[in-house]
Amino acid sequence: MFERSVVVGDEPIPYYYGFGCADDLVNALAAELKNADAGLLIADRAVAPFAEDILGRLAESMTMHVYFLDAEERNKTLGAVQSVIDFAVDRRLTRDSFFLAMGGGLTGNIAGLAASLIYRGVRFAHLPTTSVAAFDSVLSLKQAVNLPRGKNLCGCYARPTAIACDLGWLTTAPRSGLVNGLAEMVKNVLIATPEHETLLLRSLSQLGEEAAPDALLSLMHIGIDAKEPLLRADPKERREALIFEYGHTAGHSIEFVSQGVICHGEAVAWGMLVAAEVSRSLGYLDEAEVAHHREIVAHLGLPDPRSRLGGLDFARLRQVLAADNKRGYVQCAPDEVPMVLLKGVAEPVLAVSGHPLVAVPLDTVMTALSTVAAL
Ligand SMILES: NC(=O)c1ccc[n+]([C@@H]2O[C@H](COP(=O)([O-])OP(=O)(O)OC[C@H]3O[C@@H](n4cnc5c(N)ncnc54)[C@H](O)[C@@H]3O)[C@@H](O)[C@H]2O)c1
Repeated sequence: MFERSVVVGDEPIPYYYGFGCADDLVNALAAELKNADAGLLIADRAVAPFAEDILGRLAESMTMHVYFLDAEERNKTLGAVQSVIDFAVDRRLTRDSFFLAMGGGLTGNIAGLAASLIYRGVRFAHLPTTSVAAFDSVLSLKQAVNLPRGKNLCGCYARPTAIACDLGWLTTAPRSGLVNGLAEMVKNVLIATPEHETLLLRSLSQLGEEAAPDALLSLMHIGIDAKEPLLRADPKERREALIFEYGHTAGHSIEFVSQGVICHGEAVAWGMLVAAEVSRSLGYLDEAEVAHHREIVAHLGLPDPRSRLGGLDFARLRQVLAADNKRGYVQCAPDEVPMVLLKGVAEPVLAVSGHPLVAVPLDTVMTALSTVAAL
């Protein structure tokens, strides 16, 4: 088992990970959460066998409960958060209890928000089981759920006590799920760590039909290396770390309007192509840089964008874009949306305020969306 101390703000979060290391993870978690009076494991039903294994091991030394949820984007609601809290209160968990979130980014967000709201906050740990979660979403304090008007509109910041991942958990996801999730890693290479491009592409090709342990370990290191320096400086991702929102403006609207049929990673991949088109139309990126975006995204092996985006309701995409949750960081008219744009690899366009955000007319984004949907 490896242990990395990921510094977010001025405090470290221990990240325990490895391949086939559930015993070591349980020991590390038990040590982190010692003195708790009980634990609640909130787990994605899709990973029930892994959850029951962890539950059995932890139950040897403490009182444990388990709550299974169905990880579907349309269920990522305040109602889902309340159900978790009701369950915990019914089982008489206290301020001294802890939550464990086992699943993908969706489970982490619901459980993280529930942990921060119940009794005004209990300790929690993440046990990620998807590539999006293991290499990206758990490396963030942001927790949020969707509202009818859009994606991640209601949430808070909550710091996990620890993160623990057996990379073997990721291998039961379909290959498409594993690779789609790596869109966030492609994003990190484009916005922050271009020096990792060769290693990332090699790891992607090594994944083959079966997830190779060495490739997954490399991806874990690439993910942490890309995120940590910015999270250390900007733990709430409100200034320079907003750059991690690259591809998420159009991406979130695609994910939301497709009701999760287009999963987060794939949606971010299309969102990065949309951002590149917007940058080209505003004169920030040239044709070669847009082509570089397309080439690197092509390594994810996604279906063609026409078949995925062509059938979406574009009027609804526009409405969801208009409610983007980055509004308020920079001045933005109602018919504009704040976007992270690049003027080169790892070179964001900065607002006067220093935020890596540009107010872009919705018409420009919609034109870029149509261009990508016709590729
Ligand atoms: N900073 C943040 O908080 C942050 C960052 C990125 C993404 N997110 C959020 O995370 C969510 C996307 O995360 P995700 O891509 O992990 O999706 P997810 O959690 O919705 O999981 C995707 C699918 O994989 C299944 N699954 C999970 N683990 C599995 C496994 N090991 N084997 C088989 N199936 C498995 C789930 O049941 C689900 O059907 C979005 O809601 C997004 O907004 C949050």
